[in-house]
Amino acid sequence: MSVVCNITILFLFVYTMWKYLTGAVLTSSLLYVLKKYFAGGVCRCTRLLDRQVVIITGATSGIGKALAFLLAARGATIILACRDVTKATIVKTEIIEQYPVLVFVKELDLNSFSSIVKFAHNINDEFKYVYALVNNAGVFYHPQQLTEDHFDVTFQTNYLGPFVLTHCLLKSLTRSPNSRIVNVVSEAHRILQIERLINITTSQTLFRPHITAYAASKLALVLFTRHLAEKLTSTKIFVNAVNPGNCETDIFRHFPALSNKWLFALQWIIRVIVVKRPSEGAQTVLHAILTEDPCTGQYLTDCKVEVPSKLAANDTIATQYYNLTRNILKENVNLNCRL
Ligand SMILES: NC(=O)c1ccc[n+]([C@@H]2O[C@H](COP(=O)([O-])OP(=O)(O)OC[C@H]3O[C@@H](n4cnc5c(N)ncnc54)[C@H](OP(=O)(O)O)[C@@H]3O)[C@@H](O)[C@H]2O)c1
Ligand SMILES: *[C@@H]1O[C@H](CO)[C@@H](O)[C@H](O)[C@H]1NC(C)=O
Ligand SMILES: *[C@@H]1O[C@H](CO)[C@@H](O)[C@H](O)[C@H]1NC(C)=O
Ligand SMILES: *[C@@H]1O[C@H](CO)[C@@H](O)[C@H](O)[C@H]1NC(C)=O
Repeated sequence: MSVVCNITILFLFVYTMWKYLTGAVLTSSLLYVLKKYFAGGVCRCTRLLDRQVVIITGATSGIGKALAFLLAARGATIILACRDVTKATIVKTEIIEQYPVLVFVKELDLNSFSSIVKFAHNINDEFKYVYALVNNAGVFYHPQQLTEDHFDVTFQTNYLGPFVLTHCLLKSLTRSPNSRIVNVVSEAHRILQIERLINITTSQTLFRPHITAYAASKLALVLFTRHLAEKLTSTKIFVNAVNPGNCETDIFRHFPALSNKWLFALQWIIRVIVVKRPSEGAQTVLHAILTEDPCTGQYLTDCKVEVPSKLAANDTIATQYYNLTRNILKENVNLNCRL
């Protein structure tokens, strides 16, 4: 009797509510499909790294931290290259609680060339083989300030620092077969023209909007990727630039619209659906590290090769800009490593 009664109630409930139920099912399916779409490409490589050494700069948060976990799951030995050693030590503890891998914390401040050179010497001495270097650390919308080396903070953190670090680590990268260099860049590189990039490069105190400074640093990094790949063709080092896409990370800490908690909360629905999680943003970097069929000198988005801006794909400009970078570095700093 009571079973029949319950079934009748259920039937009446479904009968009166079916419109709402269908609506709810359709809406959530649509949201799910959109979320999957915006999550972007997923790395399908099955390869394990079996203790090969990977250096990640800026692994204390966002994409770098997510990448460290993804690489630990593949058995890599991970070097967390970070300016905040306390924060990095917490990340290390979290990783080794979950995975049976080796993790090292090494101090690296990209805003100081002496810190970079010290870090690199230490690595070259301690680790004979470095399989991959991920130049991930970066700042966005940072106030215009000069570093101890007299370069703009955005320009040095995002470009000159990785430039110097990469050269200093070529020794241990060359020793490892099929090694990888991955530079984390951004679609923002597209907004800049060459004259503007050269002006910003040659005059570090030139007034410029924060977004322009960011775009300049990322365009410079894409051009560097291109030229370095060409320089290294005789070696077995594969160099690529990866655009992670829009990710929900701490990168927006200096960005006024998103550092305001009310504005941040207001656009949460859009964010939840359209913006990637850090582990989703890290997929293309992971792909560039793991793929058995690597390309070099390319711009990758969603685990595929994509065409960067026309300027960023110009080899003549890439060569000239590399030369310009070496010249401004030579004038301003005395580096102990060969450039
Ligand atoms: N999130 C996005 O939507 C997006 C889109 C396109 C490209 N990207 C690029 O992705 C990369 C990672 O960004 P994210 O979103 O993961 O940002 P994030 O959460 O802010 O992480 C940035 C990392 O860089 C480190 N860092 C900053 N300055 C440094 C310095 N001078 N020396 C050493 N480390 C330094 C930070 O260390 P502290 O913890 O000590 O500050 C932090 O670990 C950046 O290159 C960014 O430009 C991000
Ligand atoms: C670059 O600098 C030169 C000389 O200072 C100036 O004439 C020119 O307008 C600048 N170009 C851009 C695109 O900023
Ligand atoms: C690359 O840039 C140079 C110098 O600005 C220009 O002469 C050349 O046409 C460009 N090449 C391509 C393929 O766009
Ligand atoms: C590199 O820069 C130096 C100094 O400005 C210049 O003499 C040289 O011709 C440049 N080389 C190339 C290949 O552009």
